[in-house]
Amino acid sequence: MTDMQRQYKDSANLNARIAIHVKYGPPGKAFSVADTGLITANAKVLDIGCGPARFWAVNAAALPAGLELTLADQSQGMVDEAVQTVAAVKGKFRAVTGKVADVCALPFADRTFDVVTAMHMLYHASDKDRAVAEIARVLKPGGVLIATTNGNDNFIELEALTAHVFGALPDQLRSTSFSLESGHPHLERHFNEVAVHAGTDILRVTDAQDVVNFIRSYPPGSDATGEQLQRLDAELAGRMKAQDGIFPITRIAGYMVARGPRR
Ligand SMILES: C[S@@+](CC[C@H](N)C(=O)[O-])C[C@H]1O[C@@H](n2cnc3c(N)ncnc32)[C@H](O)[C@@H]1O
Repeated sequence: MTDMQRQYKDSANLNARIAIHVKYGPPGKAFSVADTGLITANAKVLDIGCGPARFWAVNAAALPAGLELTLADQSQGMVDEAVQTVAAVKGKFRAVTGKVADVCALPFADRTFDVVTAMHMLYHASDKDRAVAEIARVLKPGGVLIATTNGNDNFIELEALTAHVFGALPDQLRSTSFSLESGHPHLERHFNEVAVHAGTDILRVTDAQDVVNFIRSYPPGSDATGEQLQRLDAELAGRMKAQDGIFPITRIAGYMVARGPRR
């Protein structure tokens, strides 16, 4: 099993990270794809790298009627959870299908979908160009890709703390390889029109354990020794003490909209 397969065999690690956003995300979200109007009534939608599909459950009320939703992920565990999550709001959708799929070799015919969402996942693709070309291929000519991701300096304080205690993060699990800055050229090779929407805010973390849980949800923190965890606790306590009990984290995230797929 690769690091990636271990990481996403189910949603436990991802949920440890989402928790910090839910608890400390300031009111007035940096962005919400559900509010963009890009997902239109009765659209055939592919969510690739859907994870546990939290987006579709949380935003069910804001989404238009009649969506035909395909939830796809390379992890069978994630697909199973996604279908279960959406079952709770199933009346909202015209149809929901789960499918194990690799974004670099999508098991769908050309020109199938009106909308493809790729939320915080293209940075995991082994071949970014191939992944974007595949998405362009399965989109209808008037279709749209919505790709969410982070900015290069997203969570910079947390990465600095991790690097200080454990050494650098493994590249495979960082978002810089398909970020708001670096993803753009890949999209332009396969789409006629690309727009970037970015937002920045600060998560003011008051409970050190939330930071520890986040760091321990992926390597190298997930393999920490007892001695490393003690160093992490001490370092974090020192940084929070110096900042009135707060560990501020800069969140830079957003979405890219690509239209006019080229094959
Ligand atoms: C950071 S999670 C994002 C999950 C969800 N889209 C969200 O925004 O909450 C990344 C997801 O992409 C999936 N993934 C990674 N590489 C993939 C690939 N090559 N093809 C399809 N899915 C992939 C992982 O299994 C995981 O569920």
